[in-house]
Amino acid sequence: MRWTDRQRRILELMGLRLWQRPGAAAPAPQPQPAARPDRAAATARVSAGAEPAPQAGAALPRLRPTTPGAAGAPGAPGAPARAAAGAGLPIADAAGATPSPVPTAAAAHAGGVDPERARTIAALDWPQLRDAVAACTACSLHQTRRQTVFGVGHPRARWMIVGEAPGEQEDLRGEPFVGAAGQLLDAMLHALDLTRADAPPERQVYIANTLKCRPPRNRNPEPGELAQCEPFLMRQIALVQPRLILAMGRFAVQALLRTELPIGKLRGRVHRYQGVPLVVTYHPAYLLRNPADKARAWDDLLLAAQTADAAG
Ligand code: URA
Repeated sequence: MRWTDRQRRILELMGLRLWQRPGAAAPAPQPQPAARPDRAAATARVSAGAEPAPQAGAALPRLRPTTPGAAGAPGAPGAPARAAAGAGLPIADAAGATPSPVPTAAAAHAGGVDPERARTIAALDWPQLRDAVAACTACSLHQTRRQTVFGVGHPRARWMIVGEAPGEQEDLRGEPFVGAAGQLLDAMLHALDLTRADAPPERQVYIANTLKCRPPRNRNPEPGELAQCEPFLMRQIALVQPRLILAMGRFAVQALLRTELPIGKLRGRVHRYQGVPLVVTYHPAYLLRNPADKARAWDDLLLAAQTADAAG
């Protein structure tokens, strides 16, 4: 994709520059990030920090197929409807449609996730998962959201981007990363010839957030909210089966890697989430406030690109 003059002007007005991967044809001369790492350096880090990436989904949890209406699928005749009810999940009818949210005390308890609810979510297919998110009342964020923000992109994307939580724009539009941070994310993706728009799975990423509802006044996510929402993200990852996860910001990283370590201590090497290579980087909103760290973020993107390339 090439930037149009108008897009370029908008980015410049926002103080964003166009990111460009080494070796890629430049749409127009643009200042390169300071201390831009070369591809060989990124390669060296990959081979030092990680084993070869697995084939897509190789190490992901095996989940049973869930054709709506199939025997054993949620909502099928004789299916574990009680499990869905106990989970505060929408119960689909036999055709997998007509969700009706059934909140329960267990699901509403912010301290921990009802294991039955987590198991039910882990068996949902894409339409069921989308319905379950839209109907979720498991934490108090459902009271203040305009709508849930599910995720966007290729359902079998090679790259999966995980952010934090919807902000005001995302809450309004129902799509992740559509505000200022999203503009920067799009520029970063563009630099790697990736996009959220329709494209083959090598180029079209999948973008999801750790939380599917906007925290009021964009406050930080709370542990109970993260815990209740986590099964949704886990299921999205299991369905996409990405070859690479790019975790952006503290909350995505902490949720996926189960660590309290700061980004600065985690970036620069390849981690694993259930066998899938995972690269840590700064959140685009942080980069907007701290542009000096864009060079480090670029370094992370190169590491991610190299890792995804190595995964085949
Ligand atoms: N920040 C995020 O982490 N996600 C969004 O969707 C928007 C801003």
